[in-house]
Amino acid sequence: MVEIIENIKKEFSAVSPQSAEDLEKFRIRFLSRNGLLNDLFEQFKAVAPDQKKQFGQTINQLKNQLEQQYQNWKEALENQKSEEANATWDFTLPVLEEQIGSRHPLTIVREQILQIFERMGFNISEGPEIEDDWHNFTALNFPLNHPAREMQDTFFIEKNPEIVLRTHTSSVQIRVMEKQRPPIRTISPGRVYRNEAISARAHCMFHQIEGLYVNEEVSFADLKQTLYHFVREMFGQDVQIRFRPSFFPFTEPSAEIDISCLICKGSGCNVCKQSGWVEIGGAGMLDPNVLSNCHIDPEEYSGFAFGMGIERITMLKYQVRDLRLYTENDLRFLRQFKGL
Ligand code: PHE
Repeated sequence: MVEIIENIKKEFSAVSPQSAEDLEKFRIRFLSRNGLLNDLFEQFKAVAPDQKKQFGQTINQLKNQLEQQYQNWKEALENQKSEEANATWDFTLPVLEEQIGSRHPLTIVREQILQIFERMGFNISEGPEIEDDWHNFTALNFPLNHPAREMQDTFFIEKNPEIVLRTHTSSVQIRVMEKQRPPIRTISPGRVYRNEAISARAHCMFHQIEGLYVNEEVSFADLKQTLYHFVREMFGQDVQIRFRPSFFPFTEPSAEIDISCLICKGSGCNVCKQSGWVEIGGAGMLDPNVLSNCHIDPEEYSGFAFGMGIERITMLKYQVRDLRLYTENDLRFLRQFKGL
C-alpha cells in the first residue's frame, strides 16, 4: 500500500500540463472513475482494520491535493486563454466607419408632399389596403358592370369578388366623408394595387396620395390654385402646369394634370415621349352622386379631389428612370438618397 501511494506521488510530481489536452489526460489518469485514485480506494477496502485510520488519512490528503492541483491548473489555463484573446485586439487600428442608413426615396417624397399640403391646412387620413367594393367602386359612382371598373385592372380576392386590393386611395376619401361633416380638407397617402405586368413604367403595387376638399362653394379655381401651389413648392417656380380634360366616374368635370418635363425642360426626351409634358395625376370636381352616397347634400356642398402617384413624382424629382428600382433594394440606388 505504501509503495502504491509513493508511486502515485512520484508520477504526480512529474506532470505539469501545458494545454487543455494535457490537463484532460491528467484527469483521466488520476481522477476519473478508472483512474489511479479510485484504484487506491478499491485497495483500501482490503487494508487491515487497525491500519485503516492511518492509510485513510493519507489517501484523503492525496485525493485533496490532486483535486486542488487540478483546479489550479484549470484556472491557470483559462486565464491564459483569455489573455491570448485580448492580445489579438489592436487598439491602435482606426475605427470602422459607422454605417448610416438612408430613408427610402418614396418615403422622402411622401413626406415632402404631405408637408406641402399640411401647410395648406389638409390633415392626413389612412384606410385599409384590402377594401370592399362599396368604398373602392360603388360609392365612387362606378356603376356595376360599367366599363370604368375595367380601367383599374383590379385584383379581386378569389373567394369573394366583393373584396379587392384597393386600386386607389379614393376609397379612403369615402371613408372620411361617411364619418365627417364639411368642411373636410384631407389627404390620403397609401399603397395601391393594379394587375399590371411589371416594367420600367408600370408596377402592380405603387403609392398614391389623394386629396379632398369639401365645403360650401368650392370651385374648379380652388382646385387649380391648390395644385399650382403644390407643383411650385415641389418642383420649383419655373415648372409649368396644364389641365387636360379627362374622365373619372367620381368627378365631373375631370382633368388630367401635366407638368412640363423636368428632365428635358420641355425640349423632348423619352421620359415625356418627346411631348415636353408628363402626367402626374388626375383631378376634378366631386360628382354630386359621390357626395349623396356619403350623406352630404350636394345642393349645399361641393368639393374637389385629386390623386397622384408618389413613384411618378419621385421619378421626376430625382430623375429615376425605372420604377423597378424602388423595390429591388439595390444599395447603390438607395445610398444616393443619404441625408435627404
Ligand atoms: N383615383 C384616381 C386614380 O387612381 C385619381 C383621381 C383622384 C382622379 C381624384 C380624380 C380625382 O387614377
